[in-house]
Amino acid sequence: MRLAAVFSTVGSVTKTSARPRRKDILITGCAELLTFRGAAPRRGRALGDLGIIRDGALLIRDGRIAAVGPRRRVERLLESRRARKLDLGGRIVLPGFVDSHTHLIHAASRAAEYEQRISGATYEEIASSGGGILNSARKLRNATPAELKRRALAHLAQFAAHGTTTLEAKSGYGLTWESERKILLVLRELEREQPLDIVRTFLGAHVVPHEYRHRAGKTPDAYVELICREWLPRVAAENLAEFCDVFCDRGAFTVAQSRKILTAARACGLGLRLHAEQLARTGAAKLAVEMHAASADHLEKVFAGDIRALAHSDVTCTMLPGCCFHLGLAQYGPARKLIGAGAIVGLATDFNPGTSPTLSMPAILSLACTQMRMTPAEAISAATINAAYSLGRHDRIGSLEVGKFADLAAFDVDDYREIPYYFGVNHCSLTMKRGQIICARERSSRV
Ligand code: NIG
Ligand code: FE
Repeated sequence: MRLAAVFSTVGSVTKTSARPRRKDILITGCAELLTFRGAAPRRGRALGDLGIIRDGALLIRDGRIAAVGPRRRVERLLESRRARKLDLGGRIVLPGFVDSHTHLIHAASRAAEYEQRISGATYEEIASSGGGILNSARKLRNATPAELKRRALAHLAQFAAHGTTTLEAKSGYGLTWESERKILLVLRELEREQPLDIVRTFLGAHVVPHEYRHRAGKTPDAYVELICREWLPRVAAENLAEFCDVFCDRGAFTVAQSRKILTAARACGLGLRLHAEQLARTGAAKLAVEMHAASADHLEKVFAGDIRALAHSDVTCTMLPGCCFHLGLAQYGPARKLIGAGAIVGLATDFNPGTSPTLSMPAILSLACTQMRMTPAEAISAATINAAYSLGRHDRIGSLEVGKFADLAAFDVDDYREIPYYFGVNHCSLTMKRGQIICARERSSRV
């Protein structure tokens, strides 16, 4: 596999608009081409609509899809005859995954806490004794931007190797202005220097930092004030992030504090996201609806009334089954109920060192299918077009349609359902970002 080499050489040439015209590319050999064409977002039965084309082909011009359809039809186009040919030899092709919830920038794993949990300690017990997010914050504050960047680049190469072409990435392990800014600046540099698109989210309200818990005059409410009055205006002024997220949960921020932060964020022009109803039912889901947030994520502990409210809103309900799996919890998000009620359901890794140390979207599909009973078609749709919607990018990415970016992933399987079916194995063998191959591996031997 030449993954790292490919990843680093194409990085700098992908995102400039003034590049010389590249030759068109004709992609054939797509045994199944999952287009997800049609209206977005997907709700209810439409979530399982793949827009599948057997023996499909794509014509790519300047990084965008110029034609898509059955091979015989696309091949006949005049432009196709002149194009460079790329025969995928019968692979399954889908839009690149859109991972709409990650904590990409962190300084170290928390494998020791993993072992403590296996021995019986809960996530919240570890957090309240100074571990958890505060543990990651201590390490991040001491890390240099160069160290953080090196680590993130290695992870980004792995995201690409598993078929992800766009990801959202949050700050939240800094919890001081300097460290939160450090994370967002590293993300901005990474966005320019490697091929994946990165959508930045400010998560200063991840937890109340140590300094605002134990010192006179420095209360959690004072930290909330600091975020609202000083940090959010600076985030906006320096264009450091597009979204603001809040961990609204037991042991983190209350609904009232979260409302205050989200209101200030909206006034600064930021889009809104929420970590909601993960550890306890607090009313965070209803707050997401009230604030017209783009996404409410986790939702394992929602009540029936929350599901109804979410279903009648445009909030994407982002399921994060990697957390339940890694924490060994039995209660996964109510994906079936949300889909049945007509909510917009998305899927993401929540890649982070505390609750979900995976960057594999295929692994998340396996968990979504087996543990939440989503069909393979629903899961892939949630991880592509609906996730793109939650990031406000469904006009550009998330489906394979004319005019959209040629962001795609090809898998060495015979049937798209085998992507979640073969759990724990990465069958993605080619990833393309804006018409450029950013990751290519020898084809695995078919089973
Ligand atoms: O999404 N819940 C809050 N944030 C992360 C966990 C972060 C951590 O434990 O480091 C999550 O699960
Ligand atoms: Fe998270």
